[in-house]
Amino acid sequence: MVFKLSVGLLALAASVSAASIKRVACPDGKHTATNAACCVFFSLADELQTNKFDSQCSEDAHEALRLTFHDAIGFTRSGGAKQGGGADGSVILFETTELMDPANNGIDDAIDNLKPLLQTFDVTAGDLVQFAGAVAVSNCPGAPRLEFLAGRPNATVPAALGLVPKPEDNVDKIFERVIDAGLTPTDLVHLLVSHTVARSDTLIDNRQAVPFDSTPFTFDTQVFLEVLLKGNETLPPSSGEGPAQVPNPLANQGAMRLQSDFAIAHNPLTACTWQEMINNQELMSANFRAGMAKLAVLGHDTRNLIDCSEAVPEPVPAVKKPATFPAGTSRALVQQSCPLPFPALKVDPGLPTTIPECIDGDTNINDCPS
Ligand SMILES: *[C@@H]1O[C@H](CO)[C@@H](O)[C@H](O)[C@H]1NC(C)=O
Ligand SMILES: *[C@@H]1O[C@H](CO)[C@@H](O)[C@H](O)[C@H]1NC(C)=O
Repeated sequence: MVFKLSVGLLALAASVSAASIKRVACPDGKHTATNAACCVFFSLADELQTNKFDSQCSEDAHEALRLTFHDAIGFTRSGGAKQGGGADGSVILFETTELMDPANNGIDDAIDNLKPLLQTFDVTAGDLVQFAGAVAVSNCPGAPRLEFLAGRPNATVPAALGLVPKPEDNVDKIFERVIDAGLTPTDLVHLLVSHTVARSDTLIDNRQAVPFDSTPFTFDTQVFLEVLLKGNETLPPSSGEGPAQVPNPLANQGAMRLQSDFAIAHNPLTACTWQEMINNQELMSANFRAGMAKLAVLGHDTRNLIDCSEAVPEPVPAVKKPATFPAGTSRALVQQSCPLPFPALKVDPGLPTTIPECIDGDTNINDCPS
């Protein structure tokens, strides 16, 4: 009896949901959407993939992902709305002001790439920034499909200078800053998953696209392992006020390590969140999705936004290669700060290999000399 009843309810629930998901045809004639407001994002995704990212986890994709943070973190709960509206596109609309912040060095490439789209697509600058980041990262094998909510109003003021954390900042200062923006130190580690596909054009003199791990085009867990490896190399000089980077055993192979990543990986508040993602692709991917969902709506009431996640492309599947110690490194080099057991990992055989380095303008890993 009870069984029959629940079957009946299930059938009813199924028919109700099927009936309520009525899709509207989009004006482009190619897509349908659950909400007409989402139509423009299907077209925008096509444009981004075809003409901006080449459907690759490219330099332009990396930069678009970085821009999501630099826009959204410009929000302060203590300073009031005049200090910045969070994920509101102020980084594009008030570009000249926000580029005066040294923490925003290098983000002009992403702004130049995306800004013209505001002329051809009827979207706000804040929506453009967050949507472009979600589309960009979908090209990186192993990335989650990010949530995308639409409807951020355009920024009316620039974000105050100094709100974007810098790699040379003290870890307590970085934590204070993200808490003031409405995030937790754990959320920050979840967002730092982005460093699995990150490279810097500005932090090492005379070098561009210096990767943060040995696999900068794959959304894998290597970065969490490699940041924990003890380094003993002499590094090229860094620009900026303090040491933006600390020695990394992979420096001779072309990688760099941010001072802030190193400090956060060893801080008692965050060391275990950091370590537990090593060799745990599912956890890392879920953490990043959760972190980005919070970041992308900083400064907004989500009740005023419309869920258009369906316009974000399905990500490229993970390569499914377990995390490994890069050739020339081993368990002996791990500096462990989390008391939980460290995962057992293999060492890549052979001699240390050089990480492919791409110059500015390369859009595809196949273009990068190795
Ligand atoms: C937001 O700003 C852009 C760039 O100035 C503009 O093209 C767009 O129409 C604005 N959108 C709204 C809703 O005001
Ligand atoms: C670190 O230095 C030692 C001693 O000079 C050397 O044997 C080792 O290979 C170096 N480690 C790395 C990862 O380069």
